[in-house]
Amino acid sequence: MIETVLNKLEQRLGGRVYARQRLGIETDHEAQIFGQGLTFFHIENWYSIHSVIRTLFKLTGLYWRGLANAARVQVRHNDIRFKRLPAEFDGFKLLHMSDFHADMNDGAMRRLEEILVGLSYDMCVLTGDYRGATFGPFDAALARMRPVLALIKRPVYGVLGNHDTIRMVPDLEAMGVRMLLNECEPITRAGARIYLAGIDDAHYFRVDNIEKAASAIPHQAFSLLLSHTPEIYRQAAHAGFDLLLSGHTHGGQICLPGSIPLTLDSILPRKFGAGAWRYHEMAGYTSVGVGSSIVTVRINCLPEITLHRLCRAEVTTAQ
Ligand SMILES: [Fe+2]
Repeated sequence: MIETVLNKLEQRLGGRVYARQRLGIETDHEAQIFGQGLTFFHIENWYSIHSVIRTLFKLTGLYWRGLANAARVQVRHNDIRFKRLPAEFDGFKLLHMSDFHADMNDGAMRRLEEILVGLSYDMCVLTGDYRGATFGPFDAALARMRPVLALIKRPVYGVLGNHDTIRMVPDLEAMGVRMLLNECEPITRAGARIYLAGIDDAHYFRVDNIEKAASAIPHQAFSLLLSHTPEIYRQAAHAGFDLLLSGHTHGGQICLPGSIPLTLDSILPRKFGAGAWRYHEMAGYTSVGVGSSIVTVRINCLPEITLHRLCRAEVTTAQ
C-alpha cells in the first residue's frame, strides 16, 4: 500500500526522499495515537480530548453560541502595497482560504459555498488543513472539499497543512488544485511575470524546503510564498519573498474579548497570529481560517476568507 503511494508520489515529485520522509512521519504519528494500549487515554487521543472540551463548553453555556459563530464566515479585504510589484499586476486580486477542516465544519462550508458565488478575483490560494483530524481517513474531508472547489475560479494553488496527509495530493490535484510541494510557479499577466512558491508543512512534519521552492525565482523578481504556518516568517523574509500568506493559528479560535487568543499553537510573536503584519521588507497575512479544529466552536474570533489586493506603491525618484 505504502509502496503504491510512494511510487505515485515519486512520479509527481520527481524524487523519493521527500515523499518517504512525509509518509514515514505520518505513519509514526498514527502509531503514536492508536498503537500503544497503555497510552490509549493519552491527552492527545483525538476522541477523548474532543468530548472533554465539548462537555466543558456545554457546562459553561458557551457551546451553542460558539457553534453558531463557527459557521459565520466573513469576507475580509486586505490591500497591500509593494514597491517592486510589476505595473501589470497592480490591482491583482487573490482569494485566500485556509484551515477548512472540511469534514468537521459543515456549517462553515455551507456558508462558504453561498459566499463564493458572488466573489471576483484573479487567482485563489489555499494554505492547508483540509482534514479535521491529524491522522486517519481523509475521504470525508476530500468529499466535502469537492463541491467547494467546484465553485472556485481557476487557477487555484494550495499547500498542505499539519492536519493533511500527502496521500491527499493526487485527489486534490484531480479536483483542479495545483499543489505546491516545495515548488514554484510563474504567474503571468499582460506579459509580466511574478512567482508563486509553496512549501509543505513546517509546523509538525517539518519537511518544508524554502530553498528548493525559491530556487527557480530570478533575483529581484516579485514573489509570494504560501506556507501553512507563519512560523517560518524569518526564513521567508530573508529568502527575499515580498509576501507570505499563511493560516494555522485559527487566530486562537477561542479568544478573550478583543480577539485576544488563549493559544496560537505556534512559536510566533502574537502580532503575527491573525491578519496583516510586516517583517522587514516582507508583508504577511495570517488567515484565522474557514473551519475550526478540536471542537467546532469559535469565541470572539469569527472564521474568514480573505481577498488580498496587490497594489503598486508609488516610487518617488530622487531629484
Ligand atoms: Fe488548522
